[in-house]
Amino acid sequence: MQRELWWQTGVIYQIYPRSFQDSNGDGIGDLRGITQRLSYLVELGIDAIWLTPIFPSPMADFGYDISDYTDIDPLFGGLDEFDALLAAAHAQGIKVILDLVPNHTSDEHPWFLESRASRESRKRDWYIWRDPAANGGPPNNWLSVFGGSAWEYDGASGQYYYHAFLAAQPDLNWRNPAVRSAIYEVMRFWFRRGVDGFRVDVVWHLIKDDEFRDNPPNADFRVTDPPHHRLVPLYTADRPEVHDVIAEMRRVADEFPDRVLIGEIYLPLERLVAYYGRDLGGMHLPFNFSLLGASWHASVIAGLIGEYEAALPSGGWPNWVLGNHDWPRIASRIGPDQAKVATMLLLTLRGTPTIYYGDEIAMKEVTIAPDQVRDPLEKNVRGQGLGRDGCRTPMQWDRTTHAGFSSVESWLPVGIMDHDNVVAQLCDNTSMYWLCRRLIDLRRKCPALSLGSYGSVRADENLLIFTREHGGEQLLVALNFAGEPAAASFPSGEWSGRLLISSAGDRAGESVRGSVNLRAHEGTVVEISQGGTR
Ligand code: NOJ
Repeated sequence: MQRELWWQTGVIYQIYPRSFQDSNGDGIGDLRGITQRLSYLVELGIDAIWLTPIFPSPMADFGYDISDYTDIDPLFGGLDEFDALLAAAHAQGIKVILDLVPNHTSDEHPWFLESRASRESRKRDWYIWRDPAANGGPPNNWLSVFGGSAWEYDGASGQYYYHAFLAAQPDLNWRNPAVRSAIYEVMRFWFRRGVDGFRVDVVWHLIKDDEFRDNPPNADFRVTDPPHHRLVPLYTADRPEVHDVIAEMRRVADEFPDRVLIGEIYLPLERLVAYYGRDLGGMHLPFNFSLLGASWHASVIAGLIGEYEAALPSGGWPNWVLGNHDWPRIASRIGPDQAKVATMLLLTLRGTPTIYYGDEIAMKEVTIAPDQVRDPLEKNVRGQGLGRDGCRTPMQWDRTTHAGFSSVESWLPVGIMDHDNVVAQLCDNTSMYWLCRRLIDLRRKCPALSLGSYGSVRADENLLIFTREHGGEQLLVALNFAGEPAAASFPSGEWSGRLLISSAGDRAGESVRGSVNLRAHEGTVVEISQGGTR
């Protein structure tokens, strides 16, 4: 039998480098800052960090517009600082995952400058250029995720180029083998340096229809939806040919031992799981974002866990995400009490959990005044609640003026939070921090949690109960989604066990028999010693 791999048993922690720790007093986080905070991450118990893009960039989309794939933006440091961070992380048993952004570059990348220079350029076909439509307008109806047409007119050459995001982020032409080779070389560059894997940006976007057919209208579109939802992205994303490209990318990762590829993919579960690839030769972990938009009811969550478990291909390793740099923070989405229940869910489900920095101290969305908006999405599509600045604010290390993040005013407001900072939570045994730390520790100690099977026991509107089992070990997870107490009992009746963790930070060691009484917003993990749930 195959041994389990680090990215299967481990917990991943996502860092937004601009906002983790500023070491040089410019109000923006950097690599040296992350290195300084490694001991915090070691104590928390996580196994790997994923850094959103740190490469040279004009920062039109805060690093997702790369102008050099094989260097570090001076804002964050240089290659020396990166090597130092990598070495320090590895020395402390922490893996490092970088962000690979293969779908688009910055419009300032030398490849694009060369491509744009003339229709005859050797790199013209590295990007997606089309003649205007017969009426002189854009070649077709494709829309940008960041608002407006996805086509930008280039007056000098008389053609349009395609950009799924900002006009400053032209899409590479992944049908061109030279583009594919160039990005594979980028992967090898970082793998050779010792990087343990990549989170691959918008991987389901890589291939577009080669006939450039119009996308059909979306009959379910509502005016409150993001504007690009007006069309179904039938011809711009999730094209069948994308899987061949991903398999190629995976073969590059497989040239190096023990590396991981995690795909950013927003698709319904049944289409998402195709990204494990034929014979699991695709992404190791296609990110499972189903909890991000789910309505927070026990029965809904139980339904989607069941759906995901059933959809997974044989041998496909699951994974779960509660928050990231593109979504409102979990503590604001469902409230701080339920955020603890959600954290217990994340860290007890079967599959690799990814924690978004700050969620382990229940950071909330920070209110961003109109003149503080930095996010290009909010700037382009104002007032629809799409802005992502509120979840990207500096890590709250303490209660001082700059939250221990910086010595000066930071690039986004810190929004001081009385209790939701590291120092305050360290002193409070009942805090989210301690819940997270205990759960990560328990995951490490209990193979039932890190490797065991998932068994659905019961779910109603407010109560979700499931088991995790491995070898002789059986754990019962009972989560109360409501603001009233509930008794978690189930038909098989006679069983007894010991309570290992309550989300409230007390009760550990309590004996349990036949049912677990849960307080409002409480989750518990129980080790079953006699009897069982079946
Ligand atoms: C997905 C990233 O998560 C998001 O932050 C970015 O704006 C887009 N890709 C475009 O690169």
